[in-house]
Order: sequence, then structure tokens, then C-alpha cells
Amino acid sequence: MFNKRTKIKVLLSGEQIGQEVTVMGWVRTFRNNQFIALNDGSTNNNIQVVAELGLLGEADLKRITTGASLKVTGEVVASLGKGQAVEVKATAIEILGDSDAEKYPLQPKKHSLEFLREKAHLRFRTNTFGAVFRIRHSLAFAVHQFFNDRGFVYLHTPIITSSDAEGAGEMFRVTTLPLENPPTQEDGSIDFSEDFFGKSTNLTVSGQLEGELGAMAFSEIYTFGPTFRAENSNTTRHLAEFWMIEPEMAFHDIEDNMNLAEAFIQHLIRYAMEHNAEDLAFLDQRLAEEEKSKPQAERSELGLLEKLRFVVENKFERITYTDAINILLESPAYKKKKFKYEVSWGIDLQSEHERYLVEKHFKKPVIVTGYPAAIKAFYMRMNDDGKTVAAMDILAPGIGEIVGGSQREERLEILEKRMSDMHIPAEEMSWYLDTRRFGTVPHAGFGLGFERMVQFVTGMGNIRDVIPFARTPKNCEF
Ligand code: 4AD
Ligand code: MG
Repeated sequence: MFNKRTKIKVLLSGEQIGQEVTVMGWVRTFRNNQFIALNDGSTNNNIQVVAELGLLGEADLKRITTGASLKVTGEVVASLGKGQAVEVKATAIEILGDSDAEKYPLQPKKHSLEFLREKAHLRFRTNTFGAVFRIRHSLAFAVHQFFNDRGFVYLHTPIITSSDAEGAGEMFRVTTLPLENPPTQEDGSIDFSEDFFGKSTNLTVSGQLEGELGAMAFSEIYTFGPTFRAENSNTTRHLAEFWMIEPEMAFHDIEDNMNLAEAFIQHLIRYAMEHNAEDLAFLDQRLAEEEKSKPQAERSELGLLEKLRFVVENKFERITYTDAINILLESPAYKKKKFKYEVSWGIDLQSEHERYLVEKHFKKPVIVTGYPAAIKAFYMRMNDDGKTVAAMDILAPGIGEIVGGSQREERLEILEKRMSDMHIPAEEMSWYLDTRRFGTVPHAGFGLGFERMVQFVTGMGNIRDVIPFARTPKNCEF
């Protein structure tokens, strides 16, 4: 019986005029005891259900409240009213689930994003989050399409790991040892040989190292999975649990890597523009309204759709880290002491620096290469200058770093030297070094932060609003 249901998106196309259909969804509004705006999440547009006088008794009419779920059968007719082309003239309405109007948190009015974050279990039912999460879905689908079309193998890398890929040490421990009285060694330290895996383990910060193993057999792989970072960053760009896409390609150098990353980002945007035009138009409008409440100087020059079109149609700027530092040192912002953090060759670019480069200086996405070796991970390929590595970060307007990647160090001796300089235990990483021992090849890869990409495409300012249930410091609801 339920599979006879017609989705509202399909109904609104108008092809079913004259037919009898069954629709199901949740009530958004109910006017004049007669007009029900019903939504099933297939689109932000509601179908208007007309319940003619007498169809429902007094008691049932009272049960048609915002949030209630209905099964409606009726005829699709051209609408006489304004605002919709078709409507359903109901012959039967069944109330599947009541929703107490006094208690239902979502009222038919505009709620703040902060309020909706507290009600994240219900916010999917709003227009903004409906649009955001349909686009998120499309982008995920487009990720697989892009790589599948290019012959990449989707590799599922582990979630639990005993290595710290990024060497940043910001990991969540995974253990079954008792918090009170854990087994200890003679020197008093915890004895992880007693732990579940017989060693110390964590949630992964990146699937890259395992991805490299795959690339050394399949030539081209990608991962797309959750990653975890216990960094205490309470910003609009950081999550403790986020999704990352990490392609890894044999026989690719840094140039190939940049080309692929640029094409990938453009593909994702183009896919959303083609498949989510309605939702993007809604978010474009939403952002335009939000911008109006900002002071002139803080408003972005381009609307959401204009920005997306611009990024798809124009090449990304490519500069070196050294260029970036010079641009910053020459900038009015630097001269007027507007930056909070110092600028000099060797610093890790702060988000204020990245945003200056993309938003004020170039006004487009920028790929920065050739970072100082000292601020980058051990696996990045050393450049001939002996000081910089073949790293590439992509910086996006409004977001900052959206991609981090590099050509990898494929030369065993240089890699071993780098690891020992950085105090990375080579014995535990012997499996990784084996790729350099047996048939090593030039290779490269990158990681795209999926939520940052969703933010970029939807124009949502806070990363908590583009993942269904955000995990951030001191916050793990739902
Ligand atoms: O620059 P990151 O740390 O690079 C890596 O993990 C490499 N192993 C990737 C690779 O070469 N295969 O992270 C990659 C991207 C960042 O550019 C950012 O977009 C995103 O992951 N990211 C985060 N997104 C949300 N919350 C966080 N805490 C993030 N940390 C990184
Ligand atoms: Mg990075």
C-alpha cells in the first residue's frame, strides 16, 4: 500500500493532472480549515492539499497541525490559487501521526540557525536544512561519480588505527581498558598490551597512509569516510568528526595533483548546479537576505550562485608559499597592522592570512604550493631547495583551507631521514616504508574536507549547519 505513494516533487511537475494519487508527508501549515501545505522532503515546495468542507469531522480537523503526518488520497488538479500550479483535491485524509501544536518546537515562522542547532533532530523539516542536506547528498554522489568515471578504486580505509597519519597527535583514543585502575607497566605507564588490540589505538585522522598502499597496486584510489580530530578548535570551520575525500594517485606529480583537485571541485559544483538548481536558488536568496544585515564592508561581492558560476568558469590562481608571504607583507592589511598573527617566511598561514589572499587579493580560489618543510607532515616530498616541500593547499573564498595535499616523498632514504628528524618511529611504520622499498613510484594525493565543500556550495557560514549532527568540543548531542 505504501509503495503507491507519489513523491511531492513528482506531483509538482504537473504530469499527473487528472489522476488519483496518494501522497504522504508532514504538515507545514493549515489555513482556513481547508488548505494543507504538505511536505515530504523531496523538495522544499509543498503540495497544497484541499480538504473540502465536510471531508473531515470537527475532531479530525483539530488534529491537522504543523508537524503532523498525513496520508492523503485525491485527484491532482490544476490549482486555482496563486503560488502553485497543481494541488490535490482530497477524497480521503488519514492522520498517521499527531503533532501537539503546543509542544512542537518548529513554528511556521523563521527560526534562528542557533535555535535549530539545538533542535537538530527536527531541523531537517525546515526549508534551509532541507536544501542543505539534499545538496550534501548530491555532492556525495558526485564524488563517487567523478572518481568512478576516471577509473579510481574506492578503498575503505580503517577507522581504528594505531598510527597518527598527520603526526599532529590530535587523536581520540579507542580503548576497552578500565578508566579506573588500568593495567600499568613497571615504570607506572599504562600497559596497552592488555588493551583490546594489544596496543595503543585511536580513531583515524586520515586514511591517506593506507590509501597510499592501495595506490601502489591500483594506481588510483580514493577514500571517502569519517575522520576524527581532537583539536580544541571552536570555530565555524572545525568539527571533531568530519568526512574527508582522499584520492591517492601513482604516477602523478604535484602539477597533476593540482589539476585533478581543481577539476574535482569544479565537477562537484557543476553537479550541484545541475541537479539542485531549486535548492541553490533558495539558498542564494537566503544568503542575500543574511548579507543585508551585515555592515557594507563585510558583505561579499558576489551572491552564492554568482560565486559558484565564477569558480566553475575560472582557473584557480596558483602561487607559491613564498609568493603568498610576499603578498601579505606588501598588503595594506599588514601595513595597517590589521593581522592578529605575525607574517614572516616560515609561519603557518593563519586563517586571516588565507582569507586575505582569496577574498581581498585574488578574489578566487588559490592553490598555494611549496610550503616550508618544518610546518608540514613527514610524507611530503622534499623540493630541491632542501627547505620546502611539494605541498599544495587550496584556499577558498569564505572558507579558507578546503584541500590539503602533496606529492609524496617516494625516495626511501630521504623519507627515513625526515621521519627520524621528526621522531616518527620507523619500526612501527615499516608497512608504509615497504611501498618505498618495493617498486616505489612518484605519487601524490590530497584531502578535501567534505563539510567545508558543502559550506562552500550552500553558503552556510557555520560548519555545524552542514553535517546532520555536529560533534564539536563539549557538544555531542543526538
Ligand atoms: O590538511 P589535512 O589535515 O590533510 C590531510 O589529512 C591529508 N592526509 C590529506 C591528504 O593528502 N590525503 O586535512 C584535509 C582537509 C582540510 O583541507 C580541510 O578541508 C579538512 O580536511 N579538515 C577539516 N574539516 C573539518 N573539521 C576539521 N577539524 C578539519 N581538519 C581538516
Ligand atoms: Mg591542512
